[in-house]
Amino acid sequence: MKVFLFAASLRQGSYNKKLIRIAAEHVRGLPFCEVDLCEFNDFPMPMYDGDLESSKGIPEGVQKLAQKIQMADAIIISSPEYNGSIPGTLKNALDWVSRIKPLPVAKKQFLLIGASPGALGGIRGNIHARTPFHILGTYLYPEYFGLAKADTAFDDKEQLLDPKQDERLKGLLTEFLHYASRKETPFETLSEFVEEKIQTPKK
Ligand SMILES: Cc1cc2nc3c(=O)[nH]c(=O)nc-3n(C[C@H](O)[C@H](O)[C@H](O)COP(=O)(O)O)c2cc1C
Repeated sequence: MKVFLFAASLRQGSYNKKLIRIAAEHVRGLPFCEVDLCEFNDFPMPMYDGDLESSKGIPEGVQKLAQKIQMADAIIISSPEYNGSIPGTLKNALDWVSRIKPLPVAKKQFLLIGASPGALGGIRGNIHARTPFHILGTYLYPEYFGLAKADTAFDDKEQLLDPKQDERLKGLLTEFLHYASRKETPFETLSEFVEEKIQTPKK
């Protein structure tokens, strides 16, 4: 399965970029997984502007991001928390992508993780980020990995210093991808099951 990953931070020394690189390495080690690791910087885009959209259409960076999402079976994003919420850059990207029809993110399997120098590992931002993902009809995995104290969490090889954290991250990625690798979601399977039962007359 194709797994697309990026960190929702633009800065070069980003802790979220470090975390997503580690996540990508773990995914690379899983069977049947093909990694597409990108940088958010690969998808430059202006602030959403309806006039710009009307006159010039969807910006190239947005189309490129949407294409990556469309081609992926699972998407993993490591996002910082800004003022207890989703960073404006990520929300802007989601707003632009939502202007493409059919929705590239709909029914796509997503996992959010995050890193922050604070004590909460970006969990508050992740909770807010869940709203647009929910509204856009993604299948957002319910669990989260938050790396707290990210400024002191990496060694000089940019690996996690705490092996327990590393194991927890690896465990979550494995569980998520196992879940996401089902061709149909349990919801769709259930609908088919119910429809079949309704159509099949009782003996
Ligand atoms: C505008 C802004 C708001 C921030 N708000 C929070 C916050 O609410 N909680 C938190 O833990 N860190 C907050 N931070 C600190 C970020 O977690 C920190 O800058 C982190 O390094 C950003 O992620 P990155 O390293 O991947 O770029 C904020 C940083 C900025 C620039």
